[in-house]
Amino acid sequence: MKTILGFNFSNKTALIRVDFNVPLDANLQVTDNTRILSAKPTILKVLKDGGSCVLMSHLGRPKGNQENLSLIHIVSEIEKTLDRKVTFAPDCIGAETEGVVNNIKPGDIILLENLRFYSEETEGDVAFAEKLSTLGQIYVNDAFSCSHRAHASISKITKFVPSYGGLQLNLEINALTKITSEIQRPITCIIGGSKISSKINVIKNLISKFDNIIIVGGMANNILKYKGYEIGKSIQENNCNKII
Ligand code: 3PG
Repeated sequence: MKTILGFNFSNKTALIRVDFNVPLDANLQVTDNTRILSAKPTILKVLKDGGSCVLMSHLGRPKGNQENLSLIHIVSEIEKTLDRKVTFAPDCIGAETEGVVNNIKPGDIILLENLRFYSEETEGDVAFAEKLSTLGQIYVNDAFSCSHRAHASISKITKFVPSYGGLQLNLEINALTKITSEIQRPITCIIGGSKISSKINVIKNLISKFDNIIIVGGMANNILKYKGYEIGKSIQENNCNKII
């Protein structure tokens, strides 16, 4: 994988796919900024080189345009975490967004509106990917946690613009390479998260590689429920018994 490490962004606009799918409380305040912090090294490298950043992300799984899933709600948290001003573009494609991006200067950060307000994003629509690609000169994927998706902003966009892996993506891949190439038995894998639907195949694949697998987080509740235990009000993903 080509990473941004050896690339100089001087006077270039980096179009960075981040995963700012962060948890929000009932007042639409960010309750955990880990994912924003994870993207910080990549964003700061681009700015330090003398470049500018256009950030694109999804938030949740909206059905069309849903105000409560607008990325505008997380702008102040991004500004606080990066200690930089962030300009919000009220769409992720279209004339207005192009107008905002065309005025970008070195040192600027622009955040685009939720990619998933367009179904073309999750459908992996190539024309949509091409429109997104015009918003930067270099594409950077720094969203490891989305990279299993064949979505427009992840896998299709790379056809249209020179593409690099970001520092967080690189870190995750190095960590994975290390644990899969330097195995010393006995070995135990601890895996967590809330969405068992997107991890069940990974877990099944790990069974032959590890001596023990410990499932934690929300996914554990799905397993307990499948086994017939009461889980009360604990979080779980609905309708997943058939995939376990
Ligand atoms: C996540 O929270 O797991 C990532 O942001 C991916 O979200 P998704 O499962 O809705 O694609």
